Amino acid sequence: MEVVQTNTATAKRDFLGFSTLDANKIIELFDYSLFVKKKRKGNAAEKGFLPLRDKTVAMIFSKPSLRTRVSFELGIHELGGYAINLDGQSIGLGSRESVEDIAKLLSRYNDAIVARLHDHAVIEGLSEHASIPVINALTDLSHPCQVLADAFTLYEKSIWKEGMKIVFVGDGNNVANSWIELAGLLPFHFVLACPKGYMPNHELLNAARAKGISKIEIVHDPKEAVANADVLYTDVWTSMGQEGEIAERLRIFKPFQINSALLAEAKPEAVVMHCMPAHRGEEISSEVMDGPQSIILDQAENRLHVQKALLVKLLNHEEYRKFHLTHRLLNAAKKIKA
Ligand code: CP
Ligand code: NVA
Repeated sequence: MEVVQTNTATAKRDFLGFSTLDANKIIELFDYSLFVKKKRKGNAAEKGFLPLRDKTVAMIFSKPSLRTRVSFELGIHELGGYAINLDGQSIGLGSRESVEDIAKLLSRYNDAIVARLHDHAVIEGLSEHASIPVINALTDLSHPCQVLADAFTLYEKSIWKEGMKIVFVGDGNNVANSWIELAGLLPFHFVLACPKGYMPNHELLNAARAKGISKIEIVHDPKEAVANADVLYTDVWTSMGQEGEIAERLRIFKPFQINSALLAEAKPEAVVMHCMPAHRGEEISSEVMDGPQSIILDQAENRLHVQKALLVKLLNHEEYRKFHLTHRLLNAAKKIKA
């Protein structure tokens, strides 16, 4: 993000959430993601495209991960950089050493920090004290890399249209919070159908509503919510760190499963999304997850392409700017010809 810098002499860019982005910057990032994705598919052209050459990224994981870790590590490798994986527990983030000292130390060695943490305040602390970009790879509050890849998936498939109805069925937790943040930037109709008591973050909700860009509704009846929906989205009922609440959550969330009956209430062409990992038979039935309306694996794949684009934007802005200048020139030339 184009974050206003507070503690260092030179400006750095972070990606902690959507609050400091705008719609144009998101579309720019999506166009660059398309370019990066195309480059990867045509393997030969990929060779020599190393915008992260000689750059290293420290990745701190204080929670489990498959997609995020693999897509970041692979993405950094493919762009010519090097990723160092650190277990939050073993480095003792905030216990063996302070967040401030770790942020300053990693800034001496590395070019960026990617962090998956529990408390969002800790990633804000890293951002405050690091002189290198910090990327949020999920906290208890939000998961912006996921929702960026999700929105890109809809954009890439030409499903995205202004005012489209996206219904998130399930927990008002980190992934839902990031969708709400995005609704403050891009215009769509967002509905969260969650049980009472599992509401999203109030500050993010109020901030997104105050922007007046999207219609944002919170309801408690999933069937009513999905009527006329273009997209149905869900996430696990029990997030990482909430394992002690499994039994209670299984009971409370039971009516919030995305299955064929619920999907039948949406538009016939509606697509189904899930950030994964999925608990089949809980928040989503296998028939829907593996069915023709599911674009779940596309979302997961796009984590790679979108995060590569984000890394170039944050770590090699010259390269990123050059692409957009060329892109604009080519578009202008096309218009003149037409
Ligand atoms: N969706 C997602 O972030 O997956 P992981 O938890 O496996 O990284
Ligand atoms: N809400 C889930 C998302 C996993 C990608 C969790 O925090 O565990």
